Amino acid sequence: MSTRSAGVPFRDTSESPLAGRAPRVLLLGSGELGREIAIEAMRLGAEVVAADRYSNAPAMQVAHRAHTLAMTDGAALRALVEREEPDVIVPEIEQIDTTALEQLETEGWTVIPTARATRATMDRERIRRLAAEEARVSTGRYAFADDVRSAAVAAEHVGYPCLVKAMTSSSGHGMSLVQDRSELEGAYLEAAHGGRVPSARVMLEEQVHFDLEVTVLTLRAYAADGSVRTQFLSPVAHVRPGTVYHSSWQPAELPATIVARLEAAAGAVTDRLGGVGLYGVECFVRGEEVLFSEVSPRPHDTGLVTLASQWNSEFALHARAILGYPVPTIEPAVPAAAHVILGVREQENPVFGHLRQALSVPGVRLFLFGKPRSHPGRRLGVAVARGGTIAEARERAERAAHWVESFRGAGTA
Ligand SMILES: Nc1ncnc2c1ncn2[C@@H]1O[C@H](COP(=O)(O)OP(=O)(O)OP(=O)(O)O)[C@@H](O)[C@H]1O
Ligand SMILES: [Mg+2]
Repeated sequence: MSTRSAGVPFRDTSESPLAGRAPRVLLLGSGELGREIAIEAMRLGAEVVAADRYSNAPAMQVAHRAHTLAMTDGAALRALVEREEPDVIVPEIEQIDTTALEQLETEGWTVIPTARATRATMDRERIRRLAAEEARVSTGRYAFADDVRSAAVAAEHVGYPCLVKAMTSSSGHGMSLVQDRSELEGAYLEAAHGGRVPSARVMLEEQVHFDLEVTVLTLRAYAADGSVRTQFLSPVAHVRPGTVYHSSWQPAELPATIVARLEAAAGAVTDRLGGVGLYGVECFVRGEEVLFSEVSPRPHDTGLVTLASQWNSEFALHARAILGYPVPTIEPAVPAAAHVILGVREQENPVFGHLRQALSVPGVRLFLFGKPRSHPGRRLGVAVARGGTIAEARERAERAAHWVESFRGAGTA
């Protein structure tokens, strides 16, 4: 059992990785977001250990060491932590045994932002009640149900059309839009069985006819005096043709009154979650109203745009905060956009093409994630671009991404 005290200590010295005892970061999940966290943590002199359920995952390709294991297996997770003795454990995905994380935290290991926050944010009921009932933040109408019959009662409460959602899910798995009572049973069964963990309990939510969907990247980090304070990045706007992230831009070009409401909501929710690190607070803007939707306790996929828009990206800020270094003030965003590059078919060793054309688009940077396998809809890369205006940045990012996606005969086409 560790004797270290819980929480990230405010830090101002460091040893060298591998040679000495540099701050050690254990990434649980080694996807593209983890890869950027790994790179930024290494730039700050950390020793980075990457874990995931498959080998050669993106962050593993840049980390000091890598481990392949099922992170839903609490015993395997504990063995890994005891072997690597990380200063900070950084969950990067939701498919983790969070009960094991909570136990490790009570023994003195540090989980980012905290094990409780990690657990609460992956449970729709907990996080919704925390936001709406404890933090008193506005949300769309919602209700919970445990079977088809109670789902019908819940749907009457929230009103049709409504969304039926699995309790724990990501990328919209198990979620469907229901127009009327006749569609409810199918949607209930989809939510109960189509989520990450089968669960009779599901959430129903009114369909919010929003004007804009935004992510408020919210940083809890040390100030120069060692106190933890909250800062907000300029809201990131995003669009999703389906339920999956497709493109985002920053700043969102919203009136100051709306930005203030977004920050108030994000601050109220993240204050209750605590810890240090970056949160992605997902909100809907409807007219003058701001409605909280959900929150990630880590850098957010829509925040990939900050690789172009910010001097310190969401990953750089997260790395700084979780290593215990101060973040004085976040510089304002310049107009930038990001557009995903998706796989279209099943393929080992996806091949990318039209890179010359994509990289000829002005203001563009390309991030290819190095995933060893492609399948339809899998995010394989992202194009980010700066522009004189948001419109120009969006057009550039999309043009570059579409160049890569339009390469025939490859993992992306
Ligand atoms: N109540 C709602 N009204 C309208 N659209 C919604 C509502 N809830 C969700 N959506 C749409 O579906 C998307 C995914 O929903 P949500 O974030 O709840 O699911 P998720 O499975 O956690 O997905 P992700 O992991 O991509 O965040 C939202 O970003 C939004 O575009
Ligand atoms: Mg979401």
